[in-house]
Amino acid sequence: MPVVVIDDLATAVPVARALVAGGLPAIELTLRTPVALDALRAIAAEVPEIALGAGTITTPAQAEAAVAAGARFLVSPGFTPDLLTAMLGTGVPFLPGTSTVSEVLAVLEAGLTEMKFFPAEAAGGAPYLKSVAGPLPQARFCPTGGITLASAPGYLALPNVGCVGGSWLTPADAVAAGDWERISKLAAEAAALR
Ligand code: 3PG
Repeated sequence: MPVVVIDDLATAVPVARALVAGGLPAIELTLRTPVALDALRAIAAEVPEIALGAGTITTPAQAEAAVAAGARFLVSPGFTPDLLTAMLGTGVPFLPGTSTVSEVLAVLEAGLTEMKFFPAEAAGGAPYLKSVAGPLPQARFCPTGGITLASAPGYLALPNVGCVGGSWLTPADAVAAGDWERISKLAAEAAALR
């Protein structure tokens, strides 16, 4: 899952098209910049074939705004009870962020089995998720945070990992330079991991 930061609105649609061209028709566009909601709207309108998600959802208001802007799924780095309720209320699929066993339990208690594991490398990496699969095999994770093309296979081999995410697919310098070919190539390399 490409975790994408868009600083310049004009780059949003070409980045999405480059990911699709590389064989990764999904994007987690992070709400970390002032143009993020406009970028969601632009991609929703012009690249309808991409699975458009919004990431870095940290408040209930952001969850609602992202869905109104066209996000079809949401991802948060962590959660509070209010944020979980708000994301549930949007009606779209979402991955709440977890990094401790107690947080995993809280998400399971809310009736959800799929979540993000963040920050993956800093919080224990693949060995951590392997350990969690012992007591909580029903929890499934999308780890992100510090993952690379080289470390992704170690996560994808785990039974409780459905996908991995990261910003390595859309490096800031490639986006700034308009190097869409490089982004398509990075997407193709990642798509080949499946
Ligand atoms: C995220 O929000 O998932 C992370 O910022 C992605 O982490 P990375 O930039 O280390 O890939």
